[in-house]
Amino acid sequence: MTSSKFESNDDILDFVIKKANGIKGLVDKSLEIIPNQCIQPKEHRLEKSQIDNQESIPTIDLSNFDDLNVKKSIQEAARKWGFFQIINHGIPIKVLEDLKDAAHKFFELPAEEKVKYYKESYSAGESVLMFWSAIGDKNEKFLEWRDSIKHGCNPENDSNLWPSQTRNQVLEYQKWATPLAKKLLEVLLKGLNVNDFDESLEPLLMGTMAININYYPPCPDPSITIGARRHCDVSCITLLFQDDTGGLYVRGTKGDNWIHVKPIKGALAVNIGDSLQIMSNDRYKSIEHCVAVDSSRARISVPLFVNPCFDSVIGPFSQMLKDGEKPVYKHVLFSDYWNHFFRKRPSGKASLDFAKI
Ligand code: OGA
Ligand code: NI
Repeated sequence: MTSSKFESNDDILDFVIKKANGIKGLVDKSLEIIPNQCIQPKEHRLEKSQIDNQESIPTIDLSNFDDLNVKKSIQEAARKWGFFQIINHGIPIKVLEDLKDAAHKFFELPAEEKVKYYKESYSAGESVLMFWSAIGDKNEKFLEWRDSIKHGCNPENDSNLWPSQTRNQVLEYQKWATPLAKKLLEVLLKGLNVNDFDESLEPLLMGTMAININYYPPCPDPSITIGARRHCDVSCITLLFQDDTGGLYVRGTKGDNWIHVKPIKGALAVNIGDSLQIMSNDRYKSIEHCVAVDSSRARISVPLFVNPCFDSVIGPFSQMLKDGEKPVYKHVLFSDYWNHFFRKRPSGKASLDFAKI
């Protein structure tokens, strides 16, 4: 195959997205030349020189979750890094390994099977199953080097519509991960003097949840493509399981330095999203991250996005402003924030401006 096969944008979008061959479909065709549409502009790539081996994000052992020091390290990591890994979190390794195997099974299906889950667009409040390739706006010229499937995990979602390859494994993971997410949020809220995380706060902090499975096919030239462009999550928090391939990077503290989130067997990465940064009036940080792809291995990652309900109003907690602290953000409807984020896909931290006073 040569790049000339996909001269027009429509051709490649049709093959990769609409026909659900995915980026994986390109690779399966023994791709030798990367199509122009997959070559990222320089500002979206990750150069080797930007990778910083000196800084690292913290790993927190949750074996003694009730220990005050453990709680403090979670709050501190959320303040300083916005990104950390957790070990001994209680989710059995088998649940995670099964998730990974299910992911391979699904993405290895022929396109005719995957196309059943293709959906053109996804709007606020809708939580269906959706397969996409190279997430981006339909008119986006540059495709990310990944295929994904989203499972909406809310009571109104019918998991019978999920693929049989992923259904049970995603449900099992959700069963274990939901109480863990709640415990983490409880601790994070305590760090903001919000001490009563009762049922009334659940819609605001974990009203909608979605589990994505990302499949990053191997790429003949990872230096000119990107698996996931640098972005922040809109969530309150995101829990991420990754396999042992590596490739997830987080922006460091020195500007344009990027820190590798080293895979640790059985660990989960946790990051603060924009919604919790807004609610915390900037005490907790939603940090940019991106994914570089591997030249020889397909990588699996499974983020669980813990979001507010779409009809929630998000803004700094009143507890934050009690002692005269100035609010950095106004209150906005979460669905408006979501729509702004996904319509505009602002780069870096620009999306937060939408909620700034
Ligand atoms: C995401 C994301 C990281 C990864 O899907 O929002 O940041 O490692 N994924 O796949
Ligand atoms: Ni992300």
